[in-house]
Amino acid sequence: MQYLEIRGGKKLSGSVTISGAKNAALPVIAATILSDKPVTLTNLPDVVDIRTLLTLLTMLGGTVEHKGSVAHIDNSSINSHKAVYEIVSQMRASILVLGPLLTRFGECEVSLPGGCAIGQRPIDLHLKALEAMGAEIAIESGYVHAKAPNGLHGAKIIFDKITVGGTENIVMAAAMAKGTTTIINAAKEPEIVQLCEMIADAGVSIKGIGTNELVIEGTDGIPLQFKNVEIIPDRIEAGTYLCAGAITQSEIRLEKVKAEHIRASIDKLESMGFSFDISGDTITIHPAEHIKPVSLITIEYPGFPTDMQAQFMAVAALAEGESLIEERLFENRFMHVSELNRLGADIWLKGSTAAVKGVGTLHGADVMATDLRASSALVLAGLVAEGTTKVRRIYHLDRGYDNLEGKLTALGADIIRKKDTK
Ligand code: UD1
Repeated sequence: MQYLEIRGGKKLSGSVTISGAKNAALPVIAATILSDKPVTLTNLPDVVDIRTLLTLLTMLGGTVEHKGSVAHIDNSSINSHKAVYEIVSQMRASILVLGPLLTRFGECEVSLPGGCAIGQRPIDLHLKALEAMGAEIAIESGYVHAKAPNGLHGAKIIFDKITVGGTENIVMAAAMAKGTTTIINAAKEPEIVQLCEMIADAGVSIKGIGTNELVIEGTDGIPLQFKNVEIIPDRIEAGTYLCAGAITQSEIRLEKVKAEHIRASIDKLESMGFSFDISGDTITIHPAEHIKPVSLITIEYPGFPTDMQAQFMAVAALAEGESLIEERLFENRFMHVSELNRLGADIWLKGSTAAVKGVGTLHGADVMATDLRASSALVLAGLVAEGTTKVRRIYHLDRGYDNLEGKLTALGADIIRKKDTK
């Protein structure tokens, strides 16, 4: 099993280029199912989740040529409508093929994704919305069997809760449905804006892009013809590197980043004493005189992202004072707390809030990654912990961070990927 070995205490310097956003690329790849013509995607991050979804397309019968950050996809030859457990269980976001398969082919089977370390993560809202659009849905033997023999029809969907994946699935389903779909309480993350723009560029009318209310005029079964899509920069990767600069008290520059997408993280780091220069698509973070404690609540975009909660907790562990971090989106997204405490942090959990008492120093130890973003928090802590930190189960990290150790090494960190011989 591979692990990362980090010798803490090195200052970072220089610049790092931010990769394309995994969470934008996944729905964009799923949306290619809406087309029977070739489409080229660029600026894809080199991460396992992207390869997994591209593999799913080939298992459905699509043709994929994938090299580096570019994929040429031709879904004219799709001849299977089944997303099997072996793939969906590796990556929950495979559920994103449900909407496009159903709306284009009138039927599909998609394995239920099941829960995961950070919470139950049901898909009830996706299914309820598809039913409102005319889908007949049955759950049998762990699979969602969905049918719409006469195609889906437009509907007024009011999401009980803001859901990123649910909004994406329904936007894709609506694009080829008959008539108008209105999504109220839609998610408005930048990744959803990219998906909507891709579909709108293919000639589908979508009103309200970037707002909580989307109105989509479907093509009534006519497949779309996409223009090439360049994936937007990864705001969570960018936020993670800002935290790397912050926790090591280093000046580093991020390139190819959209500052407006990470405003919430920048604001919180400013409140902790860090300062920034933002110019075009670059952001430079400057060290703080003293790291001040922070108070934050995770919430939907443009609020503070749950995907940055763990990384901020690592920085808060070294603040001068007590920080309060409340997780509102996922019921169990605190698995990193006990691991950060193994490194010498002083964090107490009460319900969905973590009280983080800043300590002067962290100490290297063996720690275990539990989910994607928790892993990066442990790496961040390892960058400053005295001695050696070994972060295990880094397959979580490989799902979503493009060459993390390579990029950190280039910034001056002492971090190596190793393999247990056992
Ligand atoms: C996406 C992101 C993930 C991020 C999350 C919240 C991708 C691939 N993943 O996940 O990184 O942490 O948004 O910003 O883009 N819910 C239901 N029923 C549903 C759907 C969701 O109860 O049918 C709940 C979830 O359990 C959670 C909340 O709604 O508590 C938000 O989940 P959602 O926005 O759907 O997250 P994902 O799309 O899975």
